Amino acid sequence: MTNIQGSFPKTRLRRNRMKDFSRRLVAENNLGTNDLILPLFVCDGNNVEDPIKSMPGVSRYSIDKLLHKVEEVVKLSIPAIAIFPQIEASLKNNEGSLAFDENNLVCRSIKSIKKEFTDIGIICDVALDPFTEHGHDGLVIDNKIDNDRTLEVLEKQALVQAHAGCDVIAPSDMMDGRIGRIRTVLDNNNFQDTLILSYAAKYASGFYGPFRDAIGSGSKLGKDGKLTYQMDPSNSDEALREVAFDINEGADMVMVKPGMPYLDIISRIKAEFKVPTFAYQVSGEYSMIKDSINKGWLNEKVIMESLLSFKRAGANGILTYFALDIAKKLKNE
Ligand code: PBG
Repeated sequence: MTNIQGSFPKTRLRRNRMKDFSRRLVAENNLGTNDLILPLFVCDGNNVEDPIKSMPGVSRYSIDKLLHKVEEVVKLSIPAIAIFPQIEASLKNNEGSLAFDENNLVCRSIKSIKKEFTDIGIICDVALDPFTEHGHDGLVIDNKIDNDRTLEVLEKQALVQAHAGCDVIAPSDMMDGRIGRIRTVLDNNNFQDTLILSYAAKYASGFYGPFRDAIGSGSKLGKDGKLTYQMDPSNSDEALREVAFDINEGADMVMVKPGMPYLDIISRIKAEFKVPTFAYQVSGEYSMIKDSINKGWLNEKVIMESLLSFKRAGANGILTYFALDIAKKLKNE
């Protein structure tokens, strides 16, 4: 700090904290509904609401039920949702070919939502994990994830989603070069205005466990899991390189994932690049907090506290399974 900022007893830092009104006035960060993105799980069928065991309070919905959920999101003015499909095992294969079928569950969800709710932002993952038998985000060829052949499939997946009406293509696969390839294919097909939100700094994290239960992608990943493509939790300079590459290749927004264990990464990215930066408070983070609240071990105020940490770190927005709860709370304040 360059300036001397006073000293005790003339200056008492507690004075600003004494009353609610002054605490509110001096708050440096605020969380608003505009900061929220709700991830939603969709499954096949009709009238299905299927609770996810490892994510208390979160369910998979068939499209008809999903629309009710989206209606809540719209009514609360949450700007966007992110859609994740649970694909039936019999429809998965080694190539994840359903990923680029224009009638797949994701595309049907987008079309149904857009028909009723034109203004809600729809974000879709580009990655093969929901569609492959092995659960990897890329093609497994000779026991390796083949980067360049995966890119060809990701291009096709991005394109069917854009065609269906997806607003934001969110590659979460961590293949090298995917942002540039997807930007080009979108541009060549008249989707210049379709946004790309890159999962730029995505770590090989144990905190994705409940999500993999939710979409059924976790059981066959092998002993190295996703370590050959997702980032090593030891690294942070490397995250800046990932982000720099993705911005150069045409990403409009970047994401850090998971959230709370990687606040330093958000802060460094924001300081270095000043681009729209998002945090994903992932399934494992959600479940830890939610389960402790359910057990009475933590007060539900920790939800807001956890989300404020992202704002402090510099995030522009947060993907969180708490989005509806928090938006309701903000509305009633
Ligand atoms: C898959 C994907 C994952 C998440 C979002 N997209 C999991 C993974 O990489 O295995 C995790 C989200 C969460 O845990 O809430 N590409």
